[in-house]
Amino acid sequence: MSFDRSIKIAPSILSADFANFGAEIRAIEAQGADWVHVDVMDGHFVPNLTFGPPAVKAFRPHVKTVMDVHLMIAPVDAYIDAYADAGADILTAHVEAGPHPHRTLQAIRGAGMKAGIALNPGTPAQAVAHLLDLADVVCVMTVNPGFGGQSFIDMTAKIAELRAMIGDSPVHIQIDGGVDPVTAPKVVAAGADVLVAGSAVFRGGSVDKPGVYGGNIAAIRAAATAA
Ligand code: DX5
Ligand code: ZN
Repeated sequence: MSFDRSIKIAPSILSADFANFGAEIRAIEAQGADWVHVDVMDGHFVPNLTFGPPAVKAFRPHVKTVMDVHLMIAPVDAYIDAYADAGADILTAHVEAGPHPHRTLQAIRGAGMKAGIALNPGTPAQAVAHLLDLADVVCVMTVNPGFGGQSFIDMTAKIAELRAMIGDSPVHIQIDGGVDPVTAPKVVAAGADVLVAGSAVFRGGSVDKPGVYGGNIAAIRAAATAA
């Protein structure tokens, strides 16, 4: 994975057909997805449950781009090796998930993955100021995590602050929640380069109508690139 700040669209398979993940992943990649975003929820850190390591391992052979695994779990550290073994390329933990996010990021990189740190909407940019040297991705949540399809919460001031803090360092700014062709230009103008989108990618499509996914991805990319 080389670093660049071109716009990357990362569809969240939380909005895919849960009976057909392999075909869904192949369809979004064929239709222009840059990364595949996998939302892991534990029913404790967030009020929803999704994918354990065996499920993520089953997704792996279908992902030809980048498997971007977003952990909404607490605690994190005991599960890092399991998600490495499952084949995550990027493993993102929340800064709110425990008292030792610095140790968590070290452990993620130590397990051979790129490391991400995510911030809930109520968490200030400063919370990650001393973690940026250990991060490859900063994920700014623009919804309260737990569910797809929620309304975008405007975090442009926080994104701009992070962009200034990061400067020339090779750290992606990823936006997660409520990204669509209307909100994408705002976050890109503020400094984001990776856009997670669930409902705005999968809406109206299916593995039998994959062109809809392609149109949805292209619409987000076009709006973002025009920003
Ligand atoms: C929210 C997840 C998101 C979510 C995005 O907890 O982290 O990745 O699936 O879904 P949309 O794009 O529908 O807001
Ligand atoms: Zn996510």
